[in-house]
Amino acid sequence: MKVTVVGAGNVGATCADAIAHRRIASEVVLIDIKEGFAEGKALDIMQTQTTLGFNTKVTGSTNDYSKTAGSDVVVITSGIPRKPGMTREELIGINAGIVKGVAENLLAHSPNAIIVVVSNPMDTMTYLTLKATGLPKNRIIGMGGALDSSRFKCYLSQALDKPANDIQGMVIGGHGDTTMIPLTRLASYNGVPVSEFLSEEELAKVAADTMVGGATLTGLLGTSAWYAPGASVAYLVDSILNDQKKMIPCSVFLEGEYGQNDICIGVPCIIGKNGVEKIVSVELNDDEKAKFAKSADAVRAMNGDLSS
Ligand code: NAI
Repeated sequence: MKVTVVGAGNVGATCADAIAHRRIASEVVLIDIKEGFAEGKALDIMQTQTTLGFNTKVTGSTNDYSKTAGSDVVVITSGIPRKPGMTREELIGINAGIVKGVAENLLAHSPNAIIVVVSNPMDTMTYLTLKATGLPKNRIIGMGGALDSSRFKCYLSQALDKPANDIQGMVIGGHGDTTMIPLTRLASYNGVPVSEFLSEEELAKVAADTMVGGATLTGLLGTSAWYAPGASVAYLVDSILNDQKKMIPCSVFLEGEYGQNDICIGVPCIIGKNGVEKIVSVELNDDEKAKFAKSADAVRAMNGDLSS
């Protein structure tokens, strides 16, 4: 199985590294526009092969898409993170141009690939990729919910003082500080609702911490995070390549599900070899429904900036 990751920056390189560690692909190709950058990152990863015990061949290339030919999954992390003084419209304009061009180049060499979109604003970039490529909706997956859900479970584990891997929980809605919806009502510790162990105030704090999870790290690091984003992409790619049919919240195109149309936004999905194999309908209560509708409005407004 072959995976291409475009953008050899913090998230892209970490993602390639995590895919190699998982031993789920025979080949990973890293692509970047910065001369020699992807080649350097790939070589560095390859020099961990014997110490970490994987055989995945990781190569890098400066913008030569012929090297990506025949990829089963392609991951788009290329783009710029928002910088101080930049308007949202400027960020959208720059990243939209990058993402659209990259998707076209990728498909020219891997016409059957499943596309995973990571670049921000992710829900809008996923929507753009779908519209620009005209691919069937099952082949375009926005990664955000996997990351937000892993942050949610991390904060729950700290509040509960229980192992994160014994905790179930998911975050749906837009991939933004104010648009994501951590579903505290449905979170559980080994199947027991977390509300058995945590007060309403404690749960509200977990939800609030989750929502600003990315911003907290940007504040600490001076740039956005990479370990958890890269690992979350690898987790998603694993479910595709190995047809694991994991239920992962992903940004996908909705046609009536959750009361929404013509939008890509985070909802729980079954992810397998065909990409999005099913959108899972979770019964939301009135408060969650209202939050989801508000989140969709915000994402739709952002999508509107694509044409400006
Ligand atoms: P970064 O700046 O470290 O890396 C981006 C890389 O993309 C750079 O190496 C740059 O040279 C490359 N690039 C730019 N234009 C390109 C093009 N046309 N073709 C190929 N490569 C190109 O940024 P980082 O931290 O890796 O973030 C990447 C993107 O992912 C950002 O938009 C960021 O906001 C987003 N992100 C999304 C997350 C999610 O959960 N969806 C989580 C974290 C970051």
